[in-house]
Amino acid sequence: MSNPSILILPGDGIGPEVMGEVKKIISWFGDKRGLTFDVSEDLVGGAAYDVHGVPLADETMAKAQAADAVLLGAVGGPKYDVLDFSVKPERGLLRLRKEMDLFSNLRPAQCFDALADFSSLKKDVVAGLDIMIVRELTSGVYFGEPRGIFEENGERVGINTQRYTESEVERVARSAFELAKRRRNKVCSMEKANVMESGILWREVVQRVHDEEYPDVELSHMYADNGAMQLVRWPKQFDVIVTDNLFGDILSDCAAMLTGSLGMLPSASLGAPMENGRPKALYEPVHGSAPDIAGQGKANPIACILSFAMALRYSFDQGDEATRLEQAIEKVLADGVRTADLMGPEGGTPVSTSGMGDAIIAALDASL
Ligand code: IPM
Ligand code: MG
Repeated sequence: MSNPSILILPGDGIGPEVMGEVKKIISWFGDKRGLTFDVSEDLVGGAAYDVHGVPLADETMAKAQAADAVLLGAVGGPKYDVLDFSVKPERGLLRLRKEMDLFSNLRPAQCFDALADFSSLKKDVVAGLDIMIVRELTSGVYFGEPRGIFEENGERVGINTQRYTESEVERVARSAFELAKRRRNKVCSMEKANVMESGILWREVVQRVHDEEYPDVELSHMYADNGAMQLVRWPKQFDVIVTDNLFGDILSDCAAMLTGSLGMLPSASLGAPMENGRPKALYEPVHGSAPDIAGQGKANPIACILSFAMALRYSFDQGDEATRLEQAIEKVLADGVRTADLMGPEGGTPVSTSGMGDAIIAALDASL
């Protein structure tokens, strides 16, 4: 049998730097754990635009469709602000999500003990936090038609459409309930059923999937604005949160900050199973391309490395090795190893992007 394949798309800004550390980690698992992957690399975002004139070439799209997992760094940068909307770097990422039909976006927010002081919230609010946001990723207002800027009564009008079908809600709800079963068995669904019909439908469908298929999972519903407030008031009340594309985008940034640094958060975007039983999957850090610090060795590679840990768990059935990697990261943080974004008043050992990668590899070696 051939090795499982990984397509790496480093992208723009700090993407290539943080992905460089992931490549070292992938090699470590090949050398030391016998987990060998066929790794290939291609362009996405502004980097693809510079070469092909589009943020994702058709050949790259085809490679992504065929890969067992795609790892993406980050897309975007000020250089591309002037581009037409249709070829902006973000369109490359959105095309990957849509055409691979990656409807379930898992965004865990976990607060590492060593960083509990780091959050802008009080330590007892965030210490031990472990929640999972499941964001619907292929529909809603991001993709709904009609959309565009039109002329109407002598002025322009900008239109986007929030739209959800029952089956779109059903499949993401199932994915949230399945995850909850393997966690603390609780799902909170968030929408705006008080003002949006799509929210009314969302709530009804989530409730029905629960009643028919997951009656043993505890389910609650919340308006998304209240949800945002509750997330900063007492986030530990949540286990799994399931929500639509736009609310999920906003709530996950909010949840990210609970953990102290956006540089810590991974994500997995999963679709339906392929012929080999693996889900179509793309893994990426939640943070962006951070052009202001790109190329300076300052970026924190942990979110991207944790995204590879999620790939080990969700695509390659290597939950134990994923845990090994997560524990190595925890150890490094507990030892006070710090990239610039994690450097607080208590100090620590300052390291560069590659210094952090090396420290994690040393901790992996020590785990053997
Ligand atoms: C995210 C980002 C993207 C989104 C952008 C880069 C298109 O904010 O993944 O959260 O809005 O989904
Ligand atoms: Mg976002």
